[in-house]
Amino acid sequence: MCGIIGILGNEPAGPRVIEALRRLEYRGYDSAGIATLDQNEIFRARAPGKLKNLEGVMANVATPGNTGIGHTRWATHGAPNETNAHPHIAGRVAIVHNGIIENFRELRAEMEAKGRKFVTETDSEAIAHLVEVELEAGKTPFEAVKTTLPKLRGAFGIAILIKGEEDLMFGARKGSPLIIGVGEGETYLGSDAFAVAPFTNKVIYLKEGEWCALTRHSINVFNETSEQVPYAIDTVQGVADVVDKGNYRHFMLKEIFEQPESTARTIGAYVNALNQTAALPNGQTLDFAAFDRVYIVACGTAYYAGCVAKYWFEKYAKLPVETDIASEFRYRDPALTKNALAIFVTQSGETADTLAALRYCKEYGLTTAAVVNVQTSTIAREVDAVLPTLAGAEVGVASTKAFTAQLCSLASIAIIAGRARKVLSKKDEARLTDQLMQIPGLITQALKIEDATKEIAVDLSSARDVLYLGRGTMFPIAMEGALKLKEISYIHAEGYAAGELKHGPIALIDEHTPVVMIAPTDHLLEKTISNMQEVAARHGKVLLISDENGAKTGADTPWQTLIAPACDPFISPILYSVPIQLLAYYIAVEKGTDVDQPRNLAKSVTVE
Ligand code: F6R
Repeated sequence: MCGIIGILGNEPAGPRVIEALRRLEYRGYDSAGIATLDQNEIFRARAPGKLKNLEGVMANVATPGNTGIGHTRWATHGAPNETNAHPHIAGRVAIVHNGIIENFRELRAEMEAKGRKFVTETDSEAIAHLVEVELEAGKTPFEAVKTTLPKLRGAFGIAILIKGEEDLMFGARKGSPLIIGVGEGETYLGSDAFAVAPFTNKVIYLKEGEWCALTRHSINVFNETSEQVPYAIDTVQGVADVVDKGNYRHFMLKEIFEQPESTARTIGAYVNALNQTAALPNGQTLDFAAFDRVYIVACGTAYYAGCVAKYWFEKYAKLPVETDIASEFRYRDPALTKNALAIFVTQSGETADTLAALRYCKEYGLTTAAVVNVQTSTIAREVDAVLPTLAGAEVGVASTKAFTAQLCSLASIAIIAGRARKVLSKKDEARLTDQLMQIPGLITQALKIEDATKEIAVDLSSARDVLYLGRGTMFPIAMEGALKLKEISYIHAEGYAAGELKHGPIALIDEHTPVVMIAPTDHLLEKTISNMQEVAARHGKVLLISDENGAKTGADTPWQTLIAPACDPFISPILYSVPIQLLAYYIAVEKGTDVDQPRNLAKSVTVE
């Protein structure tokens, strides 16, 4: 996490750094800061909290000069206060850093022994001191940076400025993303192409371990052993637009309401409605008949999309699936089979643990694919097959339209796999693709429960704990519902397989613990309704989310019912995502939390 921008420009850097940071705030919003160079001076402004606080500070603190770096922070080491906000300065050196310097204690002790004074609690400050010490020893800026980088252990994206060097900036990338922007007589550094998009659409993706020395007119890139290496300039499309909230109160609500279009776009990339067939986008192929299993690895909401996909791949393609949380997978020495396909599900394409898991699988020789929303991301560039979700930019930290787009891609891929493995007939393919085509219309209908949800939310907002229960594909949807609720309303919630209730969680049930039962009409409906009755018998307050038929089946029991349109069980996990999103949203609104930027979270988690 943390967002980085660096500008060697020909106009005042201050407002441009702010413009870029606005595009990077999704990476963290614990604090923000800027440093500029002008006439042999470093100028700095920093503020805890959101970017608007920094803008307030900048109204009174001068940041002159056309050269600048900026940072938006997601705190790892040190409280999110002004002192710990980046940029950090040591002598002539100003740095911004994204990542974690794992050996910072040793480095700090080493520097302190040399008489250097640290003023922050951060791991990052050590980088500035290391470079400064080399400068003091008489090294050139280039040599000072070159000597410093190998001393850093951990993950970093860094931008470095040096006082008196207004036409020089260094960048380094290891484990955290960093790109170079190439302008007309200007150069930039950014955490992603989106950050530099107001200035250029020409970018160089630094590779793992690479670093660079930039002037306004020259770009030199070096590998980990500081040998100069060639680079390619990519032209990126579609990253310039800054999305706005339109008439919606929050990005999250806007994104929930965008789902008819985002699912339609994503399904359209895989499904030929005319022929009723499904195929991977852009002529890509994967030999599903040859795979003996699929590993689906992801984090958070994306992991729950993978959990739904397990049901689809096993039922429709008879392909065994193992789902894993990326942070566990990468360290547990998994026993992988050689003929497997590893699918990484990720909105940002930058999640550190998911990226590490991908690299692990590549080293193992597996075929890799990413269900990914940001097509220019590191993960999209490193996999064998890019399986796009076309959700568009998702700004709300709590994922909504990216999740349903992931489900649409994965459902399509399961059909493709089922056909390739001869489990599905042409007729089955036609029936299932037809079902997928109905999703946008059904979501439009499902969104009509908004008002009913608002009313229920008023009551549920006073709950301390909420249980979400579901069977089959509704089990991962229950987990996703609980995650949505906790991250934006700060109410403790858990998602369980309804059948597990009796094996422990039922002890939690009393009149103060609401239970959200997600039970569309399918072969499991009656069993879930029985679980609902078990809850009601213990005075539990049940909110049933079902269709007309389900509501009739369980009519005598629930405290409240939310009715979704009837649909085929194949697509119900996509459709039932909508009520749980609206419910979490309106409970959070009722509680008055910061829905789009909930506390302690960030949109892109680039630290492990
Ligand atoms: C929750 C949420 C997170 C992400 C997770 C993975 O609403 O958005 O749980 O799903 O951090 O992020 P990506 O998909 O970018 O790899």
